[in-house]
Amino acid sequence: MANWDREHLSSLGINVKLPLRRGFGRTQRIDNWWTEPIWMATALTLALVYTALRVLVWDGGIHYDDHRVTSPIFSPDVLHMLHITNHPGWMNSAMLILWIPFGFRGTCYYMRRVYHRTFLQNPTGCMIAKPELNYSVGYKGERGLFILNNIHRYMLYLAIIILSIKFYDVVLTTDLGEGSRGVSIGTLILGIESFLLFMYVSSCHAFRHIFGGGMDRWRGGVSGVFGSLYRSISRVNVHHSFWFWTSLAMVFLGDLFVWAVSENIIGDQILLEW
Ligand code: FES
Repeated sequence: MANWDREHLSSLGINVKLPLRRGFGRTQRIDNWWTEPIWMATALTLALVYTALRVLVWDGGIHYDDHRVTSPIFSPDVLHMLHITNHPGWMNSAMLILWIPFGFRGTCYYMRRVYHRTFLQNPTGCMIAKPELNYSVGYKGERGLFILNNIHRYMLYLAIIILSIKFYDVVLTTDLGEGSRGVSIGTLILGIESFLLFMYVSSCHAFRHIFGGGMDRWRGGVSGVFGSLYRSISRVNVHHSFWFWTSLAMVFLGDLFVWAVSENIIGDQILLEW
């Protein structure tokens, strides 16, 4: 079929089968299409392995200065906040709260694209042949186990609660004891982590939907305000993938920093005191 025929039919909304060659990875694309899925798969695997080891094996050094600064992986430190002391020795706060960030990120619209293209290879990419097995599996949308993705909007509400506690964590870092307050490197690290998480949450598609997504029209009054909010969030939403990765990376950088300080490998410099 000539190109102009295909374009014409597509513009009419008629499905056109592209001349895709079978055989995993075969394509007529000439760019390095595999680099993005490879670094994404590597980053996600590292994140999962690191989190599992940190939570289940190396769960020491999760805070310092008597809970002034707490690792982002173990925050909110609910066991400490709720004064729960009679828990089993192997238990830590991350075991109780990580299902929220995992549930929120795991059902994220962008994350779905990432795991479909990296771990599931269904599809492998635009105009790239996927593994033969996946042609028979096909893509059936959000059905079966994937129906769980629909809880994303509810996970958003829980993520907003976690985000609020993260900001509280930042305020806690300014309490230097004996009535003095200040800003240390730990404050900056947790501050940056909270900011990136705020951007990730506020660029969420479900978050945007809250502000006027369900309205038929935005004209005047409250609907006009919601319309402008929707357009503003849309401008941030365009960069959702950027906020996804930077906020994720900062969780681990923050954890490494807290871990290193609590083990006396490095110190937490006070930058400002009043
Ligand atoms: Fe990614 Fe909601 S769509 S966090």
